[in-house]
Amino acid sequence: MEQTLVLVKPDGVQRGLVGEIIARLERRGLKLAGLKLMQVDEALARQHYAEHVERSFFPGLLQFITASPVVAMVWEANNAVALVRQTLGETNPANSPAGTIRGDFGIDIGRNLTHGSDSPESAEREVNLFFRPEEIISYDRSLDAWITE
Ligand code: RTP
Ligand code: MG
Repeated sequence: MEQTLVLVKPDGVQRGLVGEIIARLERRGLKLAGLKLMQVDEALARQHYAEHVERSFFPGLLQFITASPVVAMVWEANNAVALVRQTLGETNPANSPAGTIRGDFGIDIGRNLTHGSDSPESAEREVNLFFRPEEIISYDRSLDAWITE
């Protein structure tokens, strides 16, 4: 089953949207495989966002993601990476349709509430950055046959 890393970023935690964000992913039918509240330090932030190191927004992004705790999660589904990105919405909340998390709760690209891995390869790298193997739990849900044919 495909896995993806989701973060509720510091703005989402501070604004009390953790439950709302988890609820939307649960209701869609994805399965939660890992979950923790954690403080991202600068070293982890630099690794996680290494692809953006040369961008002008990188210093602000580092400051933001390390400013306050995040909730890190691993979610599973067939095609989990794409499903989660669709549920989160566009990078810029201002361009994100109503009904998406970013479209419903955000207005600024630098405060977009959530992170979702952008490919299965990124997901594998990011899940390993944020979680030890024993923190990810594999289990059966009795309702899975009512979600996936
Ligand atoms: P994320 O990695 O956080 O899930 O977001 P994303 O894939 O939708 O967007 P990405 O291109 O990876 O950018 C990472 C984060 O950097 C901030 N950003 N600011 N000011 C800007 O032009 C700008 N561009 C990107 C956003 O907070 C974005 O989530
Ligand atoms: Mg990204």
